[in-house]
Amino acid sequence: MSARRYHLTSYGCQMNKLDSELVESRLRQRGYEAAADEASADVVLLNTCSVRQHAEDRVWSKLGKLRLRKRQQPELVVGVLGCMAQEHKRYLLSRMPHVDLVVGPSAFGDIDATVERALERNLHLAAEREPARTKHEVGGAGVLSVDQGVSGDTIRRDVRVRPHRSQAFVSVMRGCNMPCSYCIVPTTRGDEVSRPIADIVDEAQRLCDDGVTEITLLGQTVNAYGRDLTGQDATLARLLRALHEIPSLRRLAFITSHPNFLSPELIAALAELPKLARYLHLPAQSGSNAVLKAMRRGYTVERYLARVEQLLARAPDYELHSDFIVGYPGETAADFDATVAFLQRVGFAQSYVFKYSPRPGTVAAERSDDVPEAEKERRNAVLLAAQEALTVARNRALVGRTVEVLVEGESKVAGRLSGRTVHHRLVHFAASDTALVGTYVPVRVTEALAHSVVGELLPADAAEASAHDPVEARHA
Ligand code: SAH
Ligand code: SF4
Ligand code: F3S
Repeated sequence: MSARRYHLTSYGCQMNKLDSELVESRLRQRGYEAAADEASADVVLLNTCSVRQHAEDRVWSKLGKLRLRKRQQPELVVGVLGCMAQEHKRYLLSRMPHVDLVVGPSAFGDIDATVERALERNLHLAAEREPARTKHEVGGAGVLSVDQGVSGDTIRRDVRVRPHRSQAFVSVMRGCNMPCSYCIVPTTRGDEVSRPIADIVDEAQRLCDDGVTEITLLGQTVNAYGRDLTGQDATLARLLRALHEIPSLRRLAFITSHPNFLSPELIAALAELPKLARYLHLPAQSGSNAVLKAMRRGYTVERYLARVEQLLARAPDYELHSDFIVGYPGETAADFDATVAFLQRVGFAQSYVFKYSPRPGTVAAERSDDVPEAEKERRNAVLLAAQEALTVARNRALVGRTVEVLVEGESKVAGRLSGRTVHHRLVHFAASDTALVGTYVPVRVTEALAHSVVGELLPADAAEASAHDPVEARHA
């Protein structure tokens, strides 16, 4: 029998994508192959996200299409994985009979066995020519693996299964214990669980032995790492120092940080460790104290600014990235104006801006979603434009300078490759030699665009000058 084929789509954040890598590696170990496209797959898996309604709507619509396909192909296995599996488990199992698998993010460690069970069942039913129309008819529920199952973090990772030769994500903790009023993540991902430093270092070492040179550590509040590991003195700063020792590692980054845990110990590590990427993703969410309080973020604008000043005093070459939510319940025009002013004051290099989306069950969802959609749109556009102006100014300041680029792949424009600087800035340059992918090359910036810069590839010996592109910090 030919190998069974799966098709897996990720709808969520970086952690969701890393989970998908784990799922793939489990399936491949069991002999499954990636299907060339979804239409030729025996198993269709959706790794889902609940953070905003829009993310869920994409999956509901996809499930609608799969329902039709399953009428023609009853043995097809349809699996909903990840945060929506956790959030909507009952609905999925009772109201979506064409869904065979519902697997939450903390039960990916034995996903291969779960998929296998569902596939066997469907094949058995198809062989008996029983229409596998509803689970009730076939005498049992679909396979549910949500509140129990094997956590992926306890599995020894197969480091060979990864999308990039030189870059890898490493999960350092799961879950989130923060009380942010608007956020579904603590519900879908559960409590914070940090991995021991030794496990993380072992995984990173094996990745580096296999050719990885850039590692990005992942956690919802990555700088709160270790606080649940009592008695082990595990902190992000200590973890960074341990990973920094791996000789072949060249760049080390981590996302996402919470302003409350930007400690003096961490700032010292950021200032002292040369392999660290020079950006800090430190979502502010709002620049209004009233909104921050309602969001239960646990800091004020003043406290955020003070932390950033402490960081930049020690490490002036860091750039700050943020997330903002516009149209939070009760956000006034004046609150919003304060957010625009705050964004400009900090001088963020990059920001994601999201329109508030009420998530059922959260504290904020109890309040009226009172900012009209058109006004959310307007605030979204205004804040994005303010960010773009800052980004372009930073990009322009780079013109004429040489930056070190880790080449990630071919750019959308033919004849160009692209990659990223230590500041996570996207750089495109003319070159067609794909052997450069995964290497570090010097590029002289010639043109600044809104979301990237364009440059020319220099000979390898020009690399000296470029290890850290020293952009003038224009922060508070
Ligand atoms: N743990 C990270 C990110 C979590 S989700 C952090 O705390 O920064 C990524 C981003 O989605 C958040 O930073 C926030 O800006 C946005 N977000 C979360 N819940 C949202 C909601 N209900 N509506 C709109 N945006 C939301
Ligand atoms: Fe959500 Fe807040 Fe946790 Fe981030 S820190 S995942 S926004 S609850
Ligand atoms: Fe979405 Fe879950 Fe990530 S809700 S943002 S996939 S943690």
